[in-house]
Amino acid sequence: MILIIQEMHEIDVDAHARLIYNSRQNSPLHNDERTVDGIKTALEQMIEQGEAHAMIVAQDEDSGELLGQLLMWLEWGEIGVVRPWQPIIHPEADQEAVAVALIEHSKKLVETNAKTKLEIWMELTSEQIEAMKSIVEPWYQKSGFVLTAKEYFMDTQYSKLSDLKYSIPKGIEVESMSDISNADLMDIVMESFRSGSDKWVLSMTESQLEGSANAWMKRDDTFINDASIVFKDDGNIIGYNVMRNEDDSIEVGPIGVLPSYRGRGLGRALLLESTRRLASKPDQSVWLTVSTENIPAFELYSRLGFKNQYQILIYAWTP
Ligand SMILES: CC(C)(COP(=O)(O)OP(=O)(O)OC[C@H]1O[C@@H](n2cnc3c(N)ncnc32)[C@H](O)[C@@H]1OP(=O)(O)O)[C@@H](O)C(=O)NCCC(=O)NCCS
Repeated sequence: MILIIQEMHEIDVDAHARLIYNSRQNSPLHNDERTVDGIKTALEQMIEQGEAHAMIVAQDEDSGELLGQLLMWLEWGEIGVVRPWQPIIHPEADQEAVAVALIEHSKKLVETNAKTKLEIWMELTSEQIEAMKSIVEPWYQKSGFVLTAKEYFMDTQYSKLSDLKYSIPKGIEVESMSDISNADLMDIVMESFRSGSDKWVLSMTESQLEGSANAWMKRDDTFINDASIVFKDDGNIIGYNVMRNEDDSIEVGPIGVLPSYRGRGLGRALLLESTRRLASKPDQSVWLTVSTENIPAFELYSRLGFKNQYQILIYAWTP
């Protein structure tokens, strides 16, 4: 077996669509409705949208036939991410040998890209995927990955959020983030999370958090300028919330309030004031992820009607 790293636009889309299709035939992810052509279209969209940054490809040394693949995201500050989390393996290949070879190669890629951590985000969205987890998890454990955090994916509908009442305390000013640079926001983002209960974030070093905060605040075309806001007291930023367009839904966060201002309804007011500034459809989904141990944030979202849909397990390996 040989392993190569390809940029997404370099991959043989037909061969990879066939590999993905074949790998699912006898796996818990088998789905009669998925065709090779459907998978090919999904791969082409992924390439066009620049969602993944590199693919690790395992090939048979003699025939050149594809044995497996693993996708990597490498633009998340210092943290590399394998996404989606399942290595895709040819049904006739030695599943564990190919998977572990791909995973070991992903560790090397992280090191050559000067990353300080590699994460796997296992999104447990269905029973089939839960069944896949029991096959895949031992491969990651064998390669030294450790479960570091659990998150909930929560969502609600725009119309439900926009109906809720809130008030902004007297003396607190609201400003759109469009006039504020990320450099001016960095201190408060770092301080709010360092003093919070988000286990995933608390597992990061200072520079990993800084890189992640930069990725969260990135002003690309998903960032909604009007609805991403700060609260100020006496001219100083004391809270913030970001809203993004993600496909046909709205992603909330990061959100944060300085410790001395917490528990006064500012988190609720930030999220609902941001919502008021959105131009959304009534049934549009508004979603976020939150650490299962982050009780203040979980309570804030639950009381606003967000519902827990599924868990995300975060495994990490550090060089
Ligand atoms: C999460 C956070 C933004 C909440 O801000 P806040 O201004 O304290 O929240 P609010 O005062 O508006 O509280 C909102 C609701 O959550 C509840 N809540 C807040 N903190 C709570 C706690 N520690 N325990 C239980 N309930 C809590 C409040 O009672 C309130 O409910 P109500 O509207 O029914 O009265 C703040 O704790 C924070 O900045 N944390 C660190 C950063 C972070 O973790 N961000 C979220 C990442 S996903």
